Amino acid sequence: MILELAEYLLTPCSGAFRRVGYLQGQLGIKVRYRQCGYAWQRHLDRTKAAIIKAFGGCSQYRKAVILGSGRLLDVPLRDLALAFREVILVDAVHPLNAYALAAWYRNVRLVRADVTETADELVQIAGQPGKPLPHAVPQRFCDDPEIDFVASVNLLSQLAYLPGIYLEKGERPDAEVEEWSKSLLSAHLDYLRRLPGVVSLVTDVEKMVIDTKGRVTERIDILHGIAIPKPDDEWVWNHVPLGLLSPEYAYDRRVFFIANVKI
Ligand SMILES: C[S@@+](CC[C@H](N)C(=O)[O-])C[C@H]1O[C@@H](n2cnc3c(N)ncnc32)[C@H](O)[C@@H]1O
Repeated sequence: MILELAEYLLTPCSGAFRRVGYLQGQLGIKVRYRQCGYAWQRHLDRTKAAIIKAFGGCSQYRKAVILGSGRLLDVPLRDLALAFREVILVDAVHPLNAYALAAWYRNVRLVRADVTETADELVQIAGQPGKPLPHAVPQRFCDDPEIDFVASVNLLSQLAYLPGIYLEKGERPDAEVEEWSKSLLSAHLDYLRRLPGVVSLVTDVEKMVIDTKGRVTERIDILHGIAIPKPDDEWVWNHVPLGLLSPEYAYDRRVFFIANVKI
């Protein structure tokens, strides 16, 4: 408890990001990983392998950008640092372990940023129902010709999650929040297509409810109905094992890997 409080206080995070819930969310991933790490391992290994395969298709190895790097559980940091001149890790909140891991490499740097570029405005206007929600047109890194590889890593489905909860505390109608969530995810896909280099995407696309006999009893679209490119590979992430939330069901997630969103 004391260690968690210390981590909460010591983790660098802007006031706006804290209000949207990114810091709490990051610390929540740590707790969930402690509970489910064993079940997650196959998904984490497959994500790392997919990223290594994707950057194998680059013709130059100057800069690599990892969007949603988080705790670096699913990021092959050593392979990236050995292959590229510079590796840039991007997350709204980098946990303390990411600072520690990055410090091992001279060519790895962390950028603390909201990849949708809407959080600051969102916090300003969230409580003013008459004002339209911010339009996402992310630009960061788009004009850097030295970027040869970008990976968006298990981030897409998360983009509207915390902002959505934050907005629900205000007076925004559900339909407006849903429409905005959809536009945020579409804007990320559009952003990936505008970024330089080989741009890969790893994302969970569907949440599945699994009964005690291992049967899928429900499928939930977690991408708000947006269309995404055909995957080059896909797998199942055992996200919440049986017994963790209930003895009657588990949650799995279907994960897509797209080696280059521009093809
Ligand atoms: C499911 S985690 C991805 C796992 C992460 N790659 C890891 O190994 O821990 C989603 C990550 O996306 C980050 N994130 C969510 N929304 C974001 C945003 N708008 N901008 C930047 N990062 C965001 C979270 O902070 C979290 O680290």
